[in-house]
Amino acid sequence: MCGIVGYIGKKEKKEILLDGLSELEYRGYDSAGFAVIENKELKNFKAVGKIENLANKTTHYLSDGFGVSIGHTRWATHGKPTELNAHPHLGQYSFVVHNGIIENYQELKTKLQATGASFVSQTDTETIVHLFEYHNNKLANPFESFKATVAELDGAYATLLITKADSETIYFAKNGSPMLIGFDDNDIYFASSDTPIIGKATQVYYLEDGEYGYAKDGEVKLFDAKGEKSFHKQALSMDKASAQKDGFRFFMEKEIYEQSRVMSETMMGRVNDDSVDFEELNSYFLNGIDNIKICACGTSYHSALASSYLFERLSKIPCVVEIASEFRYKEPLLKKNTLFITISQSGETADTLEALKMAKRAGLKSLSICNVDNSSIVRESDRAILTRAGIEKGVASTKAFATQTMVLWMLSVYFAGINKTIPSEQIKTEIDAMIHVPRALLIPDGLHEQIHRLTKRYLHGHGFFFIGRDIFFPLALEGALKLKEISYLHAEGYPAGEMKHGPIALADSGLFTVALMPRSLHYDKIKSNVEELSARDANILAISPEPFKLADDFIQTSYDSHPMLEFFEMMVITQLFALEVSVRLGNDVDMPRNLAKSVTVE
Ligand code: M6R
Repeated sequence: MCGIVGYIGKKEKKEILLDGLSELEYRGYDSAGFAVIENKELKNFKAVGKIENLANKTTHYLSDGFGVSIGHTRWATHGKPTELNAHPHLGQYSFVVHNGIIENYQELKTKLQATGASFVSQTDTETIVHLFEYHNNKLANPFESFKATVAELDGAYATLLITKADSETIYFAKNGSPMLIGFDDNDIYFASSDTPIIGKATQVYYLEDGEYGYAKDGEVKLFDAKGEKSFHKQALSMDKASAQKDGFRFFMEKEIYEQSRVMSETMMGRVNDDSVDFEELNSYFLNGIDNIKICACGTSYHSALASSYLFERLSKIPCVVEIASEFRYKEPLLKKNTLFITISQSGETADTLEALKMAKRAGLKSLSICNVDNSSIVRESDRAILTRAGIEKGVASTKAFATQTMVLWMLSVYFAGINKTIPSEQIKTEIDAMIHVPRALLIPDGLHEQIHRLTKRYLHGHGFFFIGRDIFFPLALEGALKLKEISYLHAEGYPAGEMKHGPIALADSGLFTVALMPRSLHYDKIKSNVEELSARDANILAISPEPFKLADDFIQTSYDSHPMLEFFEMMVITQLFALEVSVRLGNDVDMPRNLAKSVTVE
């Protein structure tokens, strides 16, 4: 959610900033901008919309002498996506970029306006630059002024500030939103995640909450509440992980197609002939644990929900799943015999991170399942299992969901093995099924074309219900979320057996029902639920191995004996369905409106 890049050095700055912002664009793409101070001269460019608009606006600008520079791509929180609201924000002689939310900005703004500061944007961010100049006008000491500014900010932020009052320095602070510093000889880079600096910096330092400081003359001075502190840089991979589309039309499409391959990576070294092992875990760590609580958001929450069936069924461990933003404020009762699991693709989701911190404060053991190494959630957790999905750029998550669900299934079998809750033959059955998952994720010839053709009938109507039972209920939730994120059509996921308790009132010829009808789990039950909808004239798209006479449309899947194989096969179909509806509606598949890849605000 929003992206920050900064650079001090002699290299051409526009290219470094635009290049870095492009890497972060999928996190927020309402507007973008950058500011440079070179020879004490301030330059500032902003554009609404994508980075290419900013690039077009700055074709004639070059900055190749020594200078300081900061850039930002925005996902609007306060104020509409306009140029005035785009970062960097200017005071009288300083610029600021910021990710996160300054919670006390209104109070600070009122105070600053009373001293004569004039605000031009509706953002909370602009407060930072005016507050800094307010202090600096009195103290005439940019560092002390920045320190005083940071001390007055409440909320989550990662921020960079440059000022004519000290034109060879970048000031930085981090609290609750990610920020890192990259190093290469005398060049210093800043970014809100490591992709913009991979291939540029050779070493990195990931800032911790409460840290602030400045970079000047090839050096960084770091401080926290106790004063100046030393820090250890670590090597940064030079391997540019930046995903390319590889001939696909969209990142999301590419990511759907690569699920079969990445799933083998997820299992590698973990799924053996007759056991599942995680080098990240051991029985000592799990000693005393007799229940599991999982917190996550969005798609990650859906994978958690699916796994709760598996933890109870296979590991015989009570498992409760909570949406992180709800968990945070419910004053939850946390007991030390609970393993606290967080699931996050990005590892930066503010609500999930905060839930994790609460659990840690209560003394719980924590485990995260995450796709991004070194992310805040991974660093905060006692143990972390990486999903190994590779960088996911489509805002609508696909392969991250698949690999999270896979890791959780593996984990449920791992627990079952440790606690001997199911016979070894059943463990073997689970493992045999796991080994077949990459096959279940392959997209057979003709399937994508079939889905493309049938979607033309699903562009109107008054909404969608995705229905399923058991683990196919979370999959129904996920199918509906995918569709609404990129098609902007209303879609709900529902437990099929619950429809008759209210939602069936909506059934008529304008209602589309996507029915997940696996053969291996409660087939007769869901069949009856779908028949009830069909009797009320709802349009039925049935996804099942079993031909279903009442279906208006039918996508046939394989007769697999294991429900998880049916789960993954149906998951791909719902993903392609959402993609094709979105394409037909002419939407931006990879960067849908109003969304961002990483939600680092509450
Ligand atoms: O990075 P996370 O997994 O923590 O993100 C959680 C949600 O924001 C995310 O899954 C969101 O729902 C996606 N856009 C789903 O496609």
